[in-house]
Amino acid sequence: MRVGYADAVDAFLVDDLPELPPGPHDVVVEIGASGICHSDHSVLAGEMPFGLPLVLGHELAGTVVETGPEVTRVRVGDRVIGATKPSCGRCWWCVRSYPYLCSECLPLWDTPRYSLDGGRSAALFCGLGSFAERNTLHELSVVPVRTDLPFEQLAILGCAVNTGAGAVFNTARVRPGDEIGVIGLGGVGMAIVQAAAVAGAARIVAVDPVPAKRSLALELGATDTLDSAPGPELVETVREMTGGRGVDISFEAVGRIDTITTAYRMARRAGTVVTVGAPDSGSKLDLGGWEAVSSAKKLTGSLAGDALGDRDLPMLVRLAETGRIDLERMVTGRIGLSADAILKAFDDHDGIRTVITP
Ligand code: APR
Ligand code: ZN
Ligand code: ZN
Repeated sequence: MRVGYADAVDAFLVDDLPELPPGPHDVVVEIGASGICHSDHSVLAGEMPFGLPLVLGHELAGTVVETGPEVTRVRVGDRVIGATKPSCGRCWWCVRSYPYLCSECLPLWDTPRYSLDGGRSAALFCGLGSFAERNTLHELSVVPVRTDLPFEQLAILGCAVNTGAGAVFNTARVRPGDEIGVIGLGGVGMAIVQAAAVAGAARIVAVDPVPAKRSLALELGATDTLDSAPGPELVETVREMTGGRGVDISFEAVGRIDTITTAYRMARRAGTVVTVGAPDSGSKLDLGGWEAVSSAKKLTGSLAGDALGDRDLPMLVRLAETGRIDLERMVTGRIGLSADAILKAFDDHDGIRTVITP
């Protein structure tokens, strides 16, 4: 069975590995589609603190084809979406409404699964490892969904849409009439734009250097787009658009320090700044100490949309089915499961999401 994994920093291969029999709480999923997210590339580039080798891919949609003897969440034949942040429902974090910080599920991210040469083993990125024909996952990592939407659309719900929409609905709780700014219009940013429109934002200022992404954002709900490089000029323009104040809520969906700083300055006083993108784990934020206090702004991270998969993924499916969010236009490329094609997709800066289909 073909599986794509990062063997070391900057070394990615798709190899034949033996299929793993399910443990008591495991399910085997035949992967219908896998999205390619910026974070997969960040792991391969050594910018995220995860041990290698690691099977990449975490936007998973597919069909359950086998279950371990103690599995209760799903049955053979169920269509599922992968939950990047599974939760047990019982730990200290889960019972305090932080399911995305579940401590019981943390080991799912680094459980060794595949044996490789030299006695090494590979875990599954986010417990999913969707760059594969099939994979064997813990049952908590999948959410069953009843829908006829195509797998390629369900796949991107798993990270891009869940992360972006969750930042809007769960982290920032955008309200009708809010004025918001979004920096970065990739899969995550485009989901922020669409979710903010669903939530009733009155102004959605969308920022990206790529003209085609700005045009699509306008079609998907943005009210204004800007191309300026990050920095004071962009902040000034956004302030002028918002009565000299700045936006109520700004979202950073690039994963860079300069754009986080810009998002911070783009928010009005007492506004909220949501960092969604994942910058290099070694990088540092440089904000003025007095500015942090006197601006009365709230700076908050949003981790994979601060989501609860069992609640949010079916909800997002319904929003897609009723046409409130457009997933079709977010899938801009389709490739097979090959190392060359995946590496090329990492380098595609014009599309929104490339999806691997069998
Ligand atoms: N200002 C604004 N936008 C920028 C800038 C910049 N200086 N530099 C790049 N961008 C845009 C790109 O043109 C692209 O549209 O940011 C977008 C990033 O999109 P993707 O690479 O598709 O990334 P995505 O998968 O959406 O993830 C965004 O969220 O989950 C995290 O790790 C992920 O940090 C990444 C972020
Ligand atoms: Zn992702
Ligand atoms: Zn838990």
